[in-house]
Amino acid sequence: MFKVNDNYQKLPGSYLFSTIAKKVNAYSAANPQKSIIRLGIGDVTQPIAPSIIAAMHSAVDEMGNAATFHGYAPDLGYEFLRSAIAKNDYVARGCDISADEIFVSDGAKSDSGNIQEIFSVDNKIAVCDPVYPVYVDSNVMAGRTGTYDPKTEMWSDVIYMPCTMENNFVPEFPKETPDIIYLCLPNNPTGTTITKSQLQEWVDYANKNGAVIIYDAAYEAYISEDDVAHSIYECEGAKTCAIELRSFSKNAGFTGVRLGFTVVPKELKCGDVSLHAMWARRHGTKFNGAPYIVQRAGEAVYSDAGKAELKQQVAYYMNNAKTIKEGLKDAGYTVFGGVNAPYIWLKTPEQMTSWEFFDYLLENANVVGTPGSGFGPSGEGYFRLTAFGSYENTVTALERIKKL
Ligand code: MLT
Repeated sequence: MFKVNDNYQKLPGSYLFSTIAKKVNAYSAANPQKSIIRLGIGDVTQPIAPSIIAAMHSAVDEMGNAATFHGYAPDLGYEFLRSAIAKNDYVARGCDISADEIFVSDGAKSDSGNIQEIFSVDNKIAVCDPVYPVYVDSNVMAGRTGTYDPKTEMWSDVIYMPCTMENNFVPEFPKETPDIIYLCLPNNPTGTTITKSQLQEWVDYANKNGAVIIYDAAYEAYISEDDVAHSIYECEGAKTCAIELRSFSKNAGFTGVRLGFTVVPKELKCGDVSLHAMWARRHGTKFNGAPYIVQRAGEAVYSDAGKAELKQQVAYYMNNAKTIKEGLKDAGYTVFGGVNAPYIWLKTPEQMTSWEFFDYLLENANVVGTPGSGFGPSGEGYFRLTAFGSYENTVTALERIKKL
């Protein structure tokens, strides 16, 4: 008789954004006349930039011609894309990362869920609280998190680093030393971040304690302040303690196209064992490469035209962030984020729980957001709105919220 992976049975409820989608669909079915504005999941709304579309069209044409057709992509990514990434995202920022330390993938969500596979099940993870749910859930599936306490909504073997308004959403070094530290900066969900010198302290801490940092930099394109690092490799010593995850979803609108990459420096080792070699082995075995057409689209992100178009796109979303932040402030809300990230994090009014406010906003303003408690117990009493909607919808949503 076969047995299932019991760890899956430990997962409480469904994936956060699936739960929200179900709730919104039920409300919409019961109220078909209502026009609902979705500022919940961080999904982009602006079309793919013209120069990227042109690159995709041309790659599609290549696929229709025997002389230029491409079959399986190299499992670690095409050289043209890995070189463009190394040059533009790393060397240009003074980071000593080479093309062969970059592993192209179908997105940062898969990489952030899969990366834990190369670590022992005995490792203890530390996460910010609130946190992007994939980090914790993928470790639950692997059997690394102990037991779940429904009262505290915490796992016995996970180290939580609360990030609340009391500590300016800056994680503090935990009392117990973790083996694996997940950091998402700029942060999803709080929309806040830390300075480069604060990040340097984390790098020093990890090197001193023999820990590895899984650094999710999916939102780096939204950084507007000078003292914030775009990559953890801007910090000294990061190559011996950090893996960086990047996405094309948020900077280039690839949520439906799917492309990302992971950087595993060759210097990152556990004793004599190279994590780079392990991830290459894993990637080669389980992944057949992102599609050629998509990797050509990724290359176009780094063209002069692509860069200029995407700068405008990021500015468009950040203008939404400003609109939300200022609108909420005018309406008397306490708000955070939205300066270096496309998320606004607000205190729920009148002591409402995060889910109470979710229902209140859905029913009274027909606006969907994300309850902070869905990201972890310290998210209770907070709520997230995304700046990834259209400008028109963002303005309408704020008008409705102000009328409440
Ligand atoms: C979010 O809303 O937190 C993100 O869109 C989720 C993701 O990027 O997978």
